[in-house]
Amino acid sequence: MPRDSLTITDNRTGRTYEIPVEHNTIRAFDLRQIKTDPEDFGLMAYDPAYTNTASCKSRITYIDGDRGILRYRGYPIEQLAEQSTYLETAYLLVKGELPKPSHLKAFDQNIRLHTIIHENIKKFIDGFHYDAHPMGILVGTVGALSTFYTDAKRIFDAESRRIQTHRLIAKMPTLAAFAYRHSIGMPYAYPDNDLSYTGNFLNMLFKMTELRYRPNPALERAIDVLFIIHADHEQNCSTSAMRGVGSSQVDPYSAIAAATAALYGPLHGGANEAVIRMLMEIGSKERVPEYVKRVKAGEIRLMGFGHRIYKNYDPRAKICRRIAGEVFEVTGPNPLLDIAIELERIALADDYFITHKLYPNVDFYSGIIYQAMGFPMDMFPVLFAIPRTSGWLAQWIEMLQDEEQKIARPRQIYLGPEKRDYVPVSERPE
Ligand code: ACO
Repeated sequence: MPRDSLTITDNRTGRTYEIPVEHNTIRAFDLRQIKTDPEDFGLMAYDPAYTNTASCKSRITYIDGDRGILRYRGYPIEQLAEQSTYLETAYLLVKGELPKPSHLKAFDQNIRLHTIIHENIKKFIDGFHYDAHPMGILVGTVGALSTFYTDAKRIFDAESRRIQTHRLIAKMPTLAAFAYRHSIGMPYAYPDNDLSYTGNFLNMLFKMTELRYRPNPALERAIDVLFIIHADHEQNCSTSAMRGVGSSQVDPYSAIAAATAALYGPLHGGANEAVIRMLMEIGSKERVPEYVKRVKAGEIRLMGFGHRIYKNYDPRAKICRRIAGEVFEVTGPNPLLDIAIELERIALADDYFITHKLYPNVDFYSGIIYQAMGFPMDMFPVLFAIPRTSGWLAQWIEMLQDEEQKIARPRQIYLGPEKRDYVPVSERPE
């Protein structure tokens, strides 16, 4: 009769233990009972980079990397990208269900109410060097918001969490756009709350001297879809930062600053910039085979290809490829697209990429789209942080309501020196 358990024999002692298996997982803490003698600390699991450790139970995002599936709260990403809006998707992530029409209207209204930032934040942004990276400005200013909303400390008060969620989703585009305007020496453009979430974002970025900015509907929708597909991706580096820092019970602005900082790193939010640089280096379709040869020789990696979780086509990359076509109808083509398509064609037919299960990931096409829209590469991770805010908040709320969670505190295997006695500097040999 099969049992949902694992039998472990410790060959050091000959003892046998039965460990329960639930959801295809054992509890690492159950290993602690495995000891060589009563003084022994007990067995631990060693898992650098947490490649095979679940840190939480979650009901938000489902990924099946082998089959190329991504769902938010059960809804396939393709359906959301086709039919939903970013704000509706944010509601879904944070609250768990799609909103009724009246609830969506109220949510949208609440977000619009909170788009303006305190004038003093502008002064902080003014203080940054003219060429400051907008992601650095975003990390600093979103963290600073915690000092303006001291009620945010009440993290176990559902009403306080609700208001901070509205404020954060509403203010991230404003902070991001102001950071961008500062970096190009332009006056800040204030929010226009008659526009949609993404329409207003485009207004704050690109408004010149016109009285009223009118966003191009195709670009407005393209950004909205890109925001939908970037909204959550379960326990990645920045989400783990959000949960880890949030587990100390700090306010959500400080935790979002930590998550944004994690996204700043080139291995996380910076891969699409690396794709652009690679495509520029390749320079023309004709040079693609020669580049692929270098990749196969192990000299370089194909940027925008491969993923820790997806061992199939990243479903977000397919959506990006479709949007690219729609955007280029408005902006005119990005010559890098031809090189990207040729690269994808050659790689997907090549044995090396097939056997290594390397497919385009979300970053392969997103940078090309952003570049065609006129964004400098420094803005790419910022464009990632804005929509990911709703995912971070959903994960943070879930963590706070999870009775099994405590302050995050991994263990270590200490391999340093044994105890030794301090020697004053005057007695140490040169
Ligand atoms: N080009 C060429 N070979 C690759 C690539 C690539 N892009 N990615 C992985 N491989 C090969 C490795 O050389 C390795 O080969 P080997 O087994 O013969 O030694 C094998 O595939 C497995 O590679 P790992 O590095 O172990 O895979 P891992 O899951 O740790 O890495 C990662 C995933 C970091 C995304 C990797 O595929 C990569 O570096 N890709 C390029 C950078 C990139 O696009 N990053 C964006 C990720 S998406 C995101 O963060 C939003």
